[in-house]
Amino acid sequence: MASLFITFEGIDGSGKSTQARMLADRLKADGQDTLLTREPGGSPGAEEIRQLVLTGEPDRWSVETEMLLFNAARRDHIEKTVDPALADGKVVICDRFVDSSRIYQGTTRGDLRAKVDALHDLMIGREPDVTFIIDMDPELGLKRGLARVGAEQRFEDFGVDLQETARHGFLNIAHQFPERCIVIEGNRTPDEVAAEIYVQYTARIAELSSRHA
Ligand code: ADP
Ligand code: TYD
Repeated sequence: MASLFITFEGIDGSGKSTQARMLADRLKADGQDTLLTREPGGSPGAEEIRQLVLTGEPDRWSVETEMLLFNAARRDHIEKTVDPALADGKVVICDRFVDSSRIYQGTTRGDLRAKVDALHDLMIGREPDVTFIIDMDPELGLKRGLARVGAEQRFEDFGVDLQETARHGFLNIAHQFPERCIVIEGNRTPDEVAAEIYVQYTARIAELSSRHA
C-alpha cells in the first residue's frame, strides 16, 4: 500500500480521537506502517502553539490571530511529522486538519472562510486523501466532551449553538469535497462506528488503487 493521509473531523465530543486511535490500531494489526497524530499539535513546535491557542480566556485571541496560530502549527506539523511519514510510505491518521479551520475560524467563530482557504493554498497546499466526518447530535457531543477533565477548555466554553452550526458546517464540507469525505453516524457504540469506518476505508482504498492503476 502506498502512503495515505487520512483525517478525522467533526464537532467536539463526536468521537474523532477514539475512532482515529481505533483505526490506527486496526491498520497496525493488519501490518500497515501507521502514524497517529493530531491538530493542533503533532510536532513539538505545534504542541507549544496548541497550548497558546487552547488555554486561557475565550477572548484571548482575535479570530484572525487564531487562524494564523492554527496555520503556523499546521505548517510545522506538516514539515516535521506528516511529510516525513508520508515519504516513508506510512499511512498518516490525523485527528482534525484544515476542515476544522474552515469550520471554526471560517464559519462559526469567525467569518474568514475565504481567508482560511487562501492561506491554506498559500502555506500548506495539501488536502487529505480521505476524510471521515463523524456526525453527532451536539447535545450528546457536548455531554461527552464535558465529561472529560482538562485545562483545554477555551473552545469548549462556547456552548451548544456553536456546536450545532459547526455540525452543519462539517456536513457542508462533505458536499463540497465529495471525492475525499465520508460521513459516519457517530451515535452508536465505539465498536459499531469503528467497524463501519474500516469497511468504508477498505472500499475507498480499493477505489483509489484502481484510479492509480
Ligand atoms: P472527540 O475527539 O471528537 O472530541 P473523543 O473520542 O475524545 O471525541 O470522545 C469524547 C468522549 O466520549 C470520550 O470520553 C470518549 O471515551 C467517549 N466516546 C467516544 N466515542 C463514543 C461512543 N461511540 N459512544 C459513547 N461514548 C463515546
Ligand atoms: P481538539 O483537541 O480536537 O478538541 P476535541 O477533542 O474536543 O474535539 O481540538 C481543540 C479545538 O480546536 C476544537 O474545539 C476545534 C479547534 N480547532 C480550530 O478551531 N481550528 C483548527 O484548525 C483546529 C485544528 C482545531
